[in-house]
Amino acid sequence: MIILKSADEVRSWSRAKRLNGQIVGLVPTMGYLHDAHLSLVDIANEHADAVIVSIFVNPAQFGPGEDYESYPRDEERDLELCRERGVDAVWIPTSDEMYPEGYATYVEVKGLDQHLCGASRPNHFRGVTTIVSKLFYVVQPDVAVFGRKDAQQARILEKLNDDLQFGIKIILGPTLREEDGLAMSSRNVRLTAEHRAEAAALNLALNKAVEQFENGIKSTEYLVDTVRRTIKKKAPSGAIEYVEVVGWDDLQPRESVDRSCLLAMAVRFGNVRLIDNVRLENQ
Ligand code: PAF
Repeated sequence: MIILKSADEVRSWSRAKRLNGQIVGLVPTMGYLHDAHLSLVDIANEHADAVIVSIFVNPAQFGPGEDYESYPRDEERDLELCRERGVDAVWIPTSDEMYPEGYATYVEVKGLDQHLCGASRPNHFRGVTTIVSKLFYVVQPDVAVFGRKDAQQARILEKLNDDLQFGIKIILGPTLREEDGLAMSSRNVRLTAEHRAEAAALNLALNKAVEQFENGIKSTEYLVDTVRRTIKKKAPSGAIEYVEVVGWDDLQPRESVDRSCLLAMAVRFGNVRLIDNVRLENQ
């Protein structure tokens, strides 16, 4: 496994692979890797001949007062995990290279960031689409893999890929869960023991709503209420930021699940913000 620091090194690595007829797969991450990231690496390995993982805690996607400084980091461990998983190259850019002094160019996908996380994290998705565009331009991968847990991000990145005609095959990997159902996230390590125990309620609440949906309930108000009540009861320390049902295509609120929808939530435990979601498919 090769460790690449500069964009020029990455360009040369990727160009050589493509000239060799190899399919290049990219897995963008912010590091502190866990099994869910590694499952994305496995997917990339299935679809590509040469896999590159980027590790960069992207300052542009954190707002003032958010957890940029305290976001967990462990480069040595990340590199070891990538090596074990058969990754070919890791790119660890520096902030100075990605955002040098005077940096002024941002990429924005309009409209899909009005609800869910976009409503409470202004400029978050602009930061994501900017850094991912930069990763795409430099690596020029054939395939890129993202997790479904960050559902709004995934949808926005699909749109970015279409609108800017990157021509990359975007693959969304499933949400991996701990034994009690909590979605895997790098932020989980920052939960207190009490909050960690309560956090399992997020998945429980989603499952209850899915059960109701499968039993014929299509009213999003009803489903949202189920999720809210379950969280309040089972996770009293959790502060609900939002629970919403939106259409998957436009990420706009729906009154009833009349098409492919996303039921998503964000809940804060102390200063740790957790998100989770499920797709509701109206066949
Ligand atoms: O999902 C993440 O870890 C980040 O938002 C991403 C896609 C690596 C961009 O910084």
